[in-house]
Amino acid sequence: MQQPDNVKLFGSKTTAPQLSIVIPTYNEAENIVNLLKSIKKNIDNDILTEIIVVDDNSPDGTGKLVDDYIKNLDQSNRKEENGVIRIRTIHRKQKEGLIQAILQGIASAFGEHILIMDADFSHPPETIPIIIENLQKNDKCIIVASRYIKGSCIEGWKLKRRILSFGANSIARLSLNVGNIRDPMSGFFAFHKSSIENIQFNTKGYKILLELLVKCRKTKVIEIPYVFTDRKIGKSKMNHMTILNYLHSLWKLYRYGKNENLNSQDIKNSIKFFSKTGRFFTVGASGLLVNYLVSILLSSGLQAKLWYMESTSIGIIVSISSNFILNKLWTFGDRDFSPRHLVKQYLLFFIICSLGASLQLALVYTLVESHVSYEWSLLFAVVAASVSNFILNKRFTFKEKIWG
Ligand code: GDD
Ligand code: MN
Repeated sequence: MQQPDNVKLFGSKTTAPQLSIVIPTYNEAENIVNLLKSIKKNIDNDILTEIIVVDDNSPDGTGKLVDDYIKNLDQSNRKEENGVIRIRTIHRKQKEGLIQAILQGIASAFGEHILIMDADFSHPPETIPIIIENLQKNDKCIIVASRYIKGSCIEGWKLKRRILSFGANSIARLSLNVGNIRDPMSGFFAFHKSSIENIQFNTKGYKILLELLVKCRKTKVIEIPYVFTDRKIGKSKMNHMTILNYLHSLWKLYRYGKNENLNSQDIKNSIKFFSKTGRFFTVGASGLLVNYLVSILLSSGLQAKLWYMESTSIGIIVSISSNFILNKLWTFGDRDFSPRHLVKQYLLFFIICSLGASLQLALVYTLVESHVSYEWSLLFAVVAASVSNFILNKRFTFKEKIWG
């Protein structure tokens, strides 16, 4: 690879920069130049740095703006002789996604260490010196600027985005075995270039750090706090596709982890856990059908003509009972039918399902009142309630460990 030519050196004989900062941009014309200036202010003169802006042919001219800025800078640098920071632009033909842009930036980086950050000031340049200090103190590690440790905070995010982020974060931490890292989805992180030597990145979307963490488990990870502030200018590029990509990556990384890192007991446990989850939700779906059919049959069917509120109540009770029996026999394979045990279990099952229903109501209310759309609120609430039903019944009604 060709080395950058016009970097200036301070007490070092090498021309390679110590730090490469990769900034992906798409329509950040109003942020990028101010960000570059602010980064320059925050980096010590003795740290040889290159900044790589990776632009996906932004319609608002972000790429051209950076090129012009570099041109002006080159001219003034010739006069002032203070070019320890070199900036360059990678122009990509079209918008192909955040991870792809970041990867291209990384592939072209010359630095000993690589730092990734957003262009919209959500990642404060004032945190860069702290990251550098940690990179210098700890040999070949990954530094994650974290939104979820003591001393961090998130400013400006609506409740919907907070819930989405927290939910996605928790799922990743639990399912990918990265529970010891509080913010594995951070977009603000740095690492020694050797950390990625043998890694093949093959997920799409936003969460490149997640893939890095899953694929280099042996590398030391340090989290440092910072204040995440939602962008003041421009719009987030996150959309429904980002969420789908995330779920797809999660699945890919989960399978990767299963093949590479888990021992056979873990594999057995995860198979057991997921097959039970599958059965529990199948039973739940059958319950909906039972509920519907019984209610209809009793109110307007051939069997009886009950008041619709009576038939609905009976429908609910019958479906909870059929769910209970099916889960007992099929999902959890529990063959203890002694009367006392059965009554106790049935009551517990009933209470936990009612708790789930209350949770669902409370969540829908809170979310809709915080201006989340009814469809999203309902989806989230139904998922939360059924997960709570599954976990609590598994643990307390059928006395099983959660995992396995
Ligand atoms: N080149 C390129 N191509 N850049 C992109 C693209 C793309 O397709 N999509 C987004 N970007 C750039 C934006 O211009 C910005 O600099 C950065 O990537 C982050 O995009 P945002 O749209 O501002 O993301 P966000 O604020 O919603 O998400 C942030 O938080 C997530 C965690 O919840 C980012 O830091 C994510 O990386 C992080 O995972
Ligand atoms: Mn942002």
